[in-house]
Amino acid sequence: MVGVQRSSGDSVSDISSGEKEEKSVGLYRRSDMACACMRYWSSISPPAAAASAGLQNETLNSRVLVLGGTGRVGGSTAIALSKLSPDLRIIIAGRNREKGASMVATIGKNAEFSEFDINDAKSLESALTGVDLVVHAAGPFQQSENCRVLEAAIRAKIAYLDVCDDTSYSLRAKSFMNDALAAKVPAITTCGIYPGVSNVMAAELVRVAKIENKGEPERLRFYYYTAGTGGAGPTILATSFLLLGEEVIAYNKGEKIKLRPYSGMVSIDFGKGIGKKDVYLLNLPEVTSTHEILGVPTVSARFGTAPFFWNWAMDAMTRFVPSEVLRDRSKVQEMVRLFDPVVRVIDGYAGERVSMRVDLECSGGRQIIGVFSHKRLSISVGYSTAAFALAVLEGSTQPGVWFPEEPEGIAIEARELLLQRAAQGTINFAMHKAPWMVETNPKEVGLGIYV
Ligand SMILES: NC(=O)c1ccc[n+]([C@@H]2O[C@H](COP(=O)([O-])OP(=O)(O)OC[C@H]3O[C@@H](n4cnc5c(N)ncnc54)[C@H](OP(=O)(O)O)[C@@H]3O)[C@@H](O)[C@H]2O)c1
Repeated sequence: MVGVQRSSGDSVSDISSGEKEEKSVGLYRRSDMACACMRYWSSISPPAAAASAGLQNETLNSRVLVLGGTGRVGGSTAIALSKLSPDLRIIIAGRNREKGASMVATIGKNAEFSEFDINDAKSLESALTGVDLVVHAAGPFQQSENCRVLEAAIRAKIAYLDVCDDTSYSLRAKSFMNDALAAKVPAITTCGIYPGVSNVMAAELVRVAKIENKGEPERLRFYYYTAGTGGAGPTILATSFLLLGEEVIAYNKGEKIKLRPYSGMVSIDFGKGIGKKDVYLLNLPEVTSTHEILGVPTVSARFGTAPFFWNWAMDAMTRFVPSEVLRDRSKVQEMVRLFDPVVRVIDGYAGERVSMRVDLECSGGRQIIGVFSHKRLSISVGYSTAAFALAVLEGSTQPGVWFPEEPEGIAIEARELLLQRAAQGTINFAMHKAPWMVETNPKEVGLGIYV
């Protein structure tokens, strides 16, 4: 049922070499491609009609199972899917019947509820019966010892994607590559807004920089900002605590380095609607995957939140709470129960703005960036994940387990539509800009000229 697979002729397994990458865009001549890219990126604003087009007749009413569909990310994904492609059949799966019924009522006639517990193999198998794609949003993924949903999807020959934001989990998911290939199951790990859309933005920055041939990509930096919890559920709080217990992996000139979590603060201008924010190092899967897949020697990821005292609290936790405690899922769940009510009250004041800035520096000092900002993370994460789901249904993903930046995960020619869909409702979305074109403070561009 999942859309027609692309022919093997337009795929590459390693895009770190410019020569191989050119093969992947072999349908176009290099100059045509560069012109097309520049036309596209200079004019992008996400038109709703373009974003909702795309599914072929045979996939229009595919059945999509959203595990964790009663939660914030899964629920938001289900709603976005129903808006982008109203004929899809959406199955909301979770443990809580009441929450399930409420989500089904929100989506309408094409939705149904399926009760399941991720720890109960039988209920998982029964939830997977007769579906075309499973979207796994029933986190947290940190400190998980298996990839139960992916394994079950491969056994049942069902396309798969997850919103995992954990390095170990994503690498474990990748280890099922051969099983997915043998079963001809397309699967993508770390979809969502960040990681997910940010990986695709990075892949596009690197690809276009290589086509323009004005210096080798040398340094890639992911900067993220979310006010409060971004309107996400209690799981995101658990995720944040669990991440604070992990050493940060980054890459410096090709060398893997380990750093203290929530250290290395820098102040970053996220541009219109967000402004300057302090961001700190976190261990996020897109650092390793983009380093290896895109071949950029220096990569890191930083995150910051608001109000400012949450940043101080996170820093204090890494200093004073033993990392064994922060890595223990049951202890972290207890901490979440304690902190969640306070966090919710402060969320009411903080709002839930979200912004991603992806910076690419090339040899010779040339710097190009992409920025993506939305007033509400709880909505934007849904459109971002839904954009991946539609791309998989449309056949953009080859059998195997992929990261979003791999051309076999999201075909290069499918990235434009994916980003358009994800960028629904953004207050600022721009790619391939010099930093001064995006930043809020006036900058001197030379000879005393300010912009
Ligand atoms: N990649 C990205 O861009 C991104 C962004 C934000 C968040 N995330 C990740 O998304 C995940 C979900 O976050 P959230 O804010 O949506 O959390 P949430 O609101 O707490 O939702 C969690 C969902 O998982 C379900 N669930 C939990 N344990 C389950 C179990 N044992 N069996 C079945 N269902 C279970 C819950 O169902 P019940 O109704 O049964 O409780 C609920 O639907 C987190 O892991 C977070 O790290 C990723």
